[in-house]
Amino acid sequence: CASLFNSRLLDGIHLTITAGPTREAIDPVRYISNHSSGKMGYALASAAADAGARVSLISGPTNLACPERVKRIDVVSASDMHDAAMAEMGQCQVFIACAAVADYRPANCAEQKIKKTDDSMRIELVRNPDIVSAVASHPQRPFTVGFAAETQDLLRYAKDKLERKNLDMIVANDVANTSIGFNANDNAVTVLWPTGNQTIAQMGKRQLAAQLITLIAQRFLSAEN
Ligand code: CTP
Ligand code: CA
Repeated sequence: CASLFNSRLLDGIHLTITAGPTREAIDPVRYISNHSSGKMGYALASAAADAGARVSLISGPTNLACPERVKRIDVVSASDMHDAAMAEMGQCQVFIACAAVADYRPANCAEQKIKKTDDSMRIELVRNPDIVSAVASHPQRPFTVGFAAETQDLLRYAKDKLERKNLDMIVANDVANTSIGFNANDNAVTVLWPTGNQTIAQMGKRQLAAQLITLIAQRFLSAEN
């Protein structure tokens, strides 16, 4: 985006973004995952690099090419993403959690491919670590931005996550509407922070990313001063 490129709003700022889905192994050939494409996170990484930031993109499995001037760190599971985020945290001033992290993983990953035997089977699941909460509760926390993907009561749930996860901002995304969010090319969001909010109307994810990075940069820079 030419205007962001000229703005250099985030010149020299270290920014880390999580993106895409995670995969939680059931056995050597199967996993639990979700429909996240990673497009929004990659578009944010690209827009942040345009604004002059030094960007680390912690990415789950996607089909996307790494944006120019962005350092990609590839991960598979939520646990891997958590470890990569903790390792990046010390150097970053802004953290944006855009990944659709699997909330649960199989309690055990079978060593061999599971054979079908009975007519039904159960997989025991255990909770994954909450990455953005871990970042936001750290003593040297960066300016921390989360996403809330909801299919109902969008703003109420988003506000609750903003408070519960101790975030500086949250981007509320209505994923019940299939023309926006998850696998779509377009998105429309409402951004909330403790003292205000702003709605960004439906547009392409690249354009939206430029607007989001501008808003995040403004709030981050005003919090710094
Ligand atoms: N998130 C995270 N680690 C997790 C789960 C979520 O970092 N294990 C982050 C997401 O990247 C997003 C925010 O938390 O920025 C909200 O994700 P969401 O799935 O909407 O919230 P959850 O807390 O998982 O709650 P629920 O799925 O029950 O609505
Ligand atoms: Ca979740």
